[in-house]
Amino acid sequence: MKRGGKLLVLFVVAMLVSSVAAFAAPKTWVVGFSQIGSESEWRTANTISVQNAFNDDPTFILIYSDAQQKQENQIKALRSFIARRVDAILFTALVETGYGPVLQEAKRARIPVVMIDRDVAEADRSLRLTIMGSDFVKEGEKAATWLAEYLKKKGLDDGRKTINIVELQGTTGSAPAIERKTGFANVMKNHPNWKITRSQTGNFTSSEGKQVMEAFLKADRKIDVLYAHNDQMALGAIQAIKEAGLKPGKDIIIVGVDAVKGAFEAMVAGEMNCSVECSPLLGPQAVQAMHDLRDGKRLPAKIYTIEGIFDETNAAQALPTRQY
Ligand code: AHR
Repeated sequence: MKRGGKLLVLFVVAMLVSSVAAFAAPKTWVVGFSQIGSESEWRTANTISVQNAFNDDPTFILIYSDAQQKQENQIKALRSFIARRVDAILFTALVETGYGPVLQEAKRARIPVVMIDRDVAEADRSLRLTIMGSDFVKEGEKAATWLAEYLKKKGLDDGRKTINIVELQGTTGSAPAIERKTGFANVMKNHPNWKITRSQTGNFTSSEGKQVMEAFLKADRKIDVLYAHNDQMALGAIQAIKEAGLKPGKDIIIVGVDAVKGAFEAMVAGEMNCSVECSPLLGPQAVQAMHDLRDGKRLPAKIYTIEGIFDETNAAQALPTRQY
């Protein structure tokens, strides 16, 4: 074969090899992740889980943006992802409302939005593809159901005497604050003698949980139960209870949500009674969802995490295996 002919054959073979390789290897996807901040141990574990899972997969590039608890920062981040024409957006909504216009912009730009952990309000859910994370209503129900069983087991609730409950709410307007409250209230309907005497936000942080609990205790020491929408606030409140000369976990029954290590340590020390698990380890699920999207698969409307509940009966045994 003449030299020109050989070169042509080589060129065709090279083209074939590169197109087969391009077909086999998935296109690298750029994913923009808008996180809300770092208000709790839970949140830190969640950010690390997502970052590690994407770093471990060379077919993705993750652009991380921390909103520092400000909705306007999140909206700016989402707009910058759209301007960069990322392939997909991973989004934790600080609060449920106020994202409609920016989600419309993402939709117009044909950029799929996958919610992780916290969803947007019902009215905007058609603008995002799916939500992965916990069932917050169920968590509130589990917390109240645990309380009912515990009070019964300890002979503390005769169905007539008032059970005074104070509530530390999460960030006002956020999905977990709204839904954990709803879930708890659903079960409370079966216990007419339970009364929420005070309820205020502690913004999911330990410092505000402590401050608000101090104020609750100053106003009225007749408190049987503290229901905290997360462990971080419960841990802050435990400090306030101790400083007020009371025994947390004994004088006041404490129920939290998340099952972070700090809560386990408090349960083992007898200073906290129960924590409903809410797993922050959503990174692998997020990567899987992005793979499915890239492969053209349909994502389910909701991707829930399976979670347990911990108290004095199982906390010590579980503590050594906790990852967050
Ligand atoms: O959205 C999940 C909640 O946010 C976690 O319960 C809490 O700890 C976090 O700050």
